[in-house]
Amino acid sequence: MTNSDIEAAYQKLRPDRAGQAEAFDAIGDRYDEAFPHKEGQLSAGEWLTGALRPGSRVLDLGCGTGVPTSLQLADAGFDVVGVDLSRRMVELAGGYVPAATFHRLDLAELRPGGPRDLGRFDAVAAFFSLLMLPRAEIPLALRTVHHLLVPGGLFVLSMVEADVDDFRIPFLGHTIRVSGYLRDDLRRVIETAGFEIVREDSYTYAPAIADVPPEEQVFLCCRRRD
Ligand SMILES: C[S@@+](CC[C@H](N)C(=O)[O-])C[C@H]1O[C@@H](n2cnc3c(N)ncnc32)[C@H](O)[C@@H]1O
Repeated sequence: MTNSDIEAAYQKLRPDRAGQAEAFDAIGDRYDEAFPHKEGQLSAGEWLTGALRPGSRVLDLGCGTGVPTSLQLADAGFDVVGVDLSRRMVELAGGYVPAATFHRLDLAELRPGGPRDLGRFDAVAAFFSLLMLPRAEIPLALRTVHHLLVPGGLFVLSMVEADVDDFRIPFLGHTIRVSGYLRDDLRRVIETAGFEIVREDSYTYAPAIADVPPEEQVFLCCRRRD
């Protein structure tokens, strides 16, 4: 997919963000209370810290409160940049991880030739953020990650295993729209976007609140292939 193909696809898709940032603006700190015990996420972060040189530039895409990932990566001595659609999440992240730099933006703005350019990164983390996009946009977001990485750069992500597209779910008293894939389909989408999957883990996760059912979380550690 060329850069102009990506731009044309975004223009055609015109993703609808209505309610997505507002939910996270309102949820704020309750997100971390509802989703404690992030062993899978921390373990994928450790894979990055073991593989990168000190001082590497790392992007936390859809960083939320910055806890645990931006914090873990900043503590490991990396130059961390976090971005999130939710103004409140960016505010919280700035407070929790003063060593990192945070921007309120839509990850679609970082597409090749898009309106925002934060430069290139040695690694990108996208934990449970791509699942907030409609399925038609996920390959475009993955091509954006590919474009943001230096050749051979590292990419860690997590998704919830589910065969859904832009599906409305109740979430901490709000409604958000989420997408997912079954495991083999997820692998295929990642590989087609130009990544080699080098590690895969999955966890059954029960959030600490009543209105979110237990979920199967998939963590993939990848390398930009070309
Ligand atoms: C489920 S939370 C995960 C937060 C964090 N990565 C973590 O694991 O704790 C998803 C985050 O993605 C952000 N997000 C959703 N759509 C986004 C978009 N289009 N661009 C940037 N961030 C987005 C939300 O505001 C939210 O903070």
